[in-house]
Amino acid sequence: MVLAIEWRDVDQPVIRLIDQTALPHQTRYLDVATVDDLVLAIGDLAVRGAPALGAAGALGVAMAMNQARREGWDDTRLQSEIQRIRDARPTAINLAWGVDRVRGAMPQGVHEVLRQAQALVAEDTAANRTLSRLGADWILARTGLDQVRVVTHCNTGALATTAWGTAYGIIHELHDRGRLGLVYADETRPLLQGARLTSWELQQDGIAHVVQADGAASSTILRGLVDVAIIGADRITANGDAANKIGSVALALACARAGIPFIVAAPTSTVDLSTKRGDDIVIEERASDEVVSFYGHRTAPEGVMGFNPAFDVTPHDLITAIVTERGVVEPATHPDPELLASIAR
Ligand code: MRU
Repeated sequence: MVLAIEWRDVDQPVIRLIDQTALPHQTRYLDVATVDDLVLAIGDLAVRGAPALGAAGALGVAMAMNQARREGWDDTRLQSEIQRIRDARPTAINLAWGVDRVRGAMPQGVHEVLRQAQALVAEDTAANRTLSRLGADWILARTGLDQVRVVTHCNTGALATTAWGTAYGIIHELHDRGRLGLVYADETRPLLQGARLTSWELQQDGIAHVVQADGAASSTILRGLVDVAIIGADRITANGDAANKIGSVALALACARAGIPFIVAAPTSTVDLSTKRGDDIVIEERASDEVVSFYGHRTAPEGVMGFNPAFDVTPHDLITAIVTERGVVEPATHPDPELLASIAR
């Protein structure tokens, strides 16, 4: 399985990223040893996906400590550079969470920070495996189907995590159990995480799928072509609202109309109990050019501005199930924030 992010000792210790801007046509790696390069890689989406960003945050603290030693930074400078990593993207809580998880170990030295960062990476992988089993169990029990047809949005596989994946992990689990029908992967405009990354992972894993335009998804659901929608999350608030890639809420609305489950799969590291509701989430707004151009070619008339929110929020009453490694909650039918809090604490 491909690793989106790992710590490597080459000539010097680096964070090795598979460059997700080049996939699927080129497999190239970035060895990142400076805060500038890490912040750039996060902003450009060379590394992306909430749990992978959590790993980038945690490993980034160790990397910044090494850079501080090389370049003679004082503690104030080091802390402000770490803050730049933490702030590199605003929506996925995992990035800040990853930084904060290891920051307290800084007085114990870089080896301890790195040990804790690597423990976080291992925990994420284990969480993905567990939530995938729980999610597959829940779907098979709820639908009673022999073969489950799935629609998914954006990319939630190994590339978006430390390994295996979240929503993608459930799809993979259903496949391994021989219970998966066709997968509809939304292309995910404007940066095509679905067409470029999810499709690549599905192909590598031998999983039957088609790529559809985002605009096709709600119709696919209303036509009865899928049995369940499974997506990931960048932040789940205390009341069960969930931010995910722009376009996700359209799937949720269509699923509610069609009466099929809409499932959000995420490790508990994505649950942010300190944010009360989805309206309080800062939604990243990305460059206009990503919308009004396509692969470097202008598509909209010159002078027109794009509107480019990278995420949307699905209200909890549209979410049939939130699947985490510590259990499943059903916000649409059991809208009790304490249920989510009890597994996320
Ligand atoms: O902008 P991206 O590609 O980082 O957005 C990623 C998503 O929206 C994913 O669905 C989410 O982070 C969950 S990844 C398991």
